[in-house]
Amino acid sequence: MAYTALYPGTFDPLTFGHLDMMMRASMLCTTLIVGVAENPGKNPLFNLEQRKLFVEIEINKMKAEGSISETVEVLAFKGLLTDFAKQVNASMLIRGLRAVSDFEYEFQMASANKRLSQNLETVFLTASEQQHFVASRLVKEIARYGGDVTSFVPEPISNKLRSVFKDNN
Ligand code: PNS
Repeated sequence: MAYTALYPGTFDPLTFGHLDMMMRASMLCTTLIVGVAENPGKNPLFNLEQRKLFVEIEINKMKAEGSISETVEVLAFKGLLTDFAKQVNASMLIRGLRAVSDFEYEFQMASANKRLSQNLETVFLTASEQQHFVASRLVKEIARYGGDVTSFVPEPISNKLRSVFKDNN
């Protein structure tokens, strides 16, 4: 049987923590769709096209290195996650859990998504030890004040963050 899993997120911006999740999630399914959400409510720093492009660049690099399956796809979506999951025929939603503090939000979201789509299961993967504290929000804050984010995000993203915040410092 073929399993399609959906790993959704805002990816504002993509971090090494997200990439680690993608690599591990891709081993649990036949096809992994990385769903980049528009999420206007979060007021993202990067627009949807930029966020999707950053994910595509890294996934393509990993495919070329052979470190991720060729069946990983990156798609942008607007609107409800459960509608998008139906559209791509996903039976699993993958979410990463970093710490206890993530749990309440994730539990709420998984429960609401279950109510909206009974056949869709949320599967949680725990963040790897090296990545457990990496959050996009922290990365942006560090970059905003001129800090070095090269150990948190891929190089094209750290360069972009530096140029976005260069006038702040
Ligand atoms: O990376 P994030 O910001 O934690 O991801 C949150 C995301 C994109 C999964 C969530 O905001 C979402 O599903 N947005 C789409 C709109 C939606 O369906 N909202 C209801 C979720 S219960």
